[in-house]
Amino acid sequence: MIYLDNAATSFPKPEPVYLALDQCARTSLANPGRAGHKMAVAAERTLDDTRHALNQFFGGEAPERWVLTFNCTDGLNLAIKGVIQSGDHVITTDLEHNSISRPLRALEKAGVITVTRVVSDAGYIDPEAIRGALTPKTSLVAMTHAANVLGTVQPIEEIAAIVRGAGALYLVDAAQSAGVVPIDLKRTPIDLLAFPGHKSLYGPTGTGALYVGPRAHPRPWREGGTGGDSSSETQPEAMPFFLEGGTPNVLGCAGLLAGIAWVRERGQDALREHEVALLQRVVDWTEANAGWQVAGRWEPSKHVGALSLIVPEGLSPQELGAILDSSFDIAVRPGLHCAPYIHRRISSFPDGTLRVSPGAFSTEADIDALVSALTEITAGVI
Ligand SMILES: Cc1ncc(COP(=O)(O)O)c(C=O)c1O
Repeated sequence: MIYLDNAATSFPKPEPVYLALDQCARTSLANPGRAGHKMAVAAERTLDDTRHALNQFFGGEAPERWVLTFNCTDGLNLAIKGVIQSGDHVITTDLEHNSISRPLRALEKAGVITVTRVVSDAGYIDPEAIRGALTPKTSLVAMTHAANVLGTVQPIEEIAAIVRGAGALYLVDAAQSAGVVPIDLKRTPIDLLAFPGHKSLYGPTGTGALYVGPRAHPRPWREGGTGGDSSSETQPEAMPFFLEGGTPNVLGCAGLLAGIAWVRERGQDALREHEVALLQRVVDWTEANAGWQVAGRWEPSKHVGALSLIVPEGLSPQELGAILDSSFDIAVRPGLHCAPYIHRRISSFPDGTLRVSPGAFSTEADIDALVSALTEITAGVI
């Protein structure tokens, strides 16, 4: 199979990730506990090492500020539902994945908060539009770093400064950027940073993290066992245990740890440039073929490895995706990509687009196979 659906989750994983998963599963897959037996301590160490690696990678304040989550959605929900107070105003954008849009919309519908959804232009959010949406009641600005439908990278450094100046919290969804676009928490005032471990950090599914900066104090939404401090009647206040209840994904973290090390070795810029160079071939093909269109503005230096194609009239992204899969063994992602607002904005709702997302192991030959398959499928139709 030619796998071009890395924006959903990366595949394959680097060899050291498979080896780390195997080793952990065979030798130290116990339930972590700080005061437990040797294997429990080894499992706890895997979690600690993951927090240290994340803290170094993103320049956080301290390893204990990293809450290990089960995916990006988990971290975003923890952040949003943990900091919102009744009567708050929240700013978001039309680029968001449902993992931000839905919790905010549900709180809005319940009358708990008011929401302003800033509108993007060709895939980009203007920092001044965020400034213009701020009100004295704005407590949170929640937005993506790289749009998952269009692949466009947002100016979070500029926006962070504006949000900090207004005294609100800044929550960034780095699902499509963590591992390919450097984020430096020491330089950029982000209060809450959520991402999955299973995309460009090359860990397995079931992993993710939420960074909680010193200005943010989310309430826990999952209380329970923490592997220590059992005498306390309520969740122990020490971070990260305050926000982590229940058995963590030790196996996943072993893989994530190896994934982060691999990304560091390869270099984030090099990984992004590889994916964008492959997408350039798709863009070139699109421009040479009538009826096809790239969604959003194509600016290679402000792009991650996800590109949406608006398909010619008379064809549907779903049909094309199904034919690519069944007849050509090529995996891409048709549809709305859990981001309905941006599809409405670019008039691709309800069918959506055909999203192509190469990863670190994709090759020029993979892209050539894709465009030649698209040429063959559409021959005679347009
Ligand atoms: C921008 C964005 N945010 C959030 C998510 C949700 O990530 P997860 O599936 O790990 O919860 C995704 C997943 O594709 C995404 O692209």
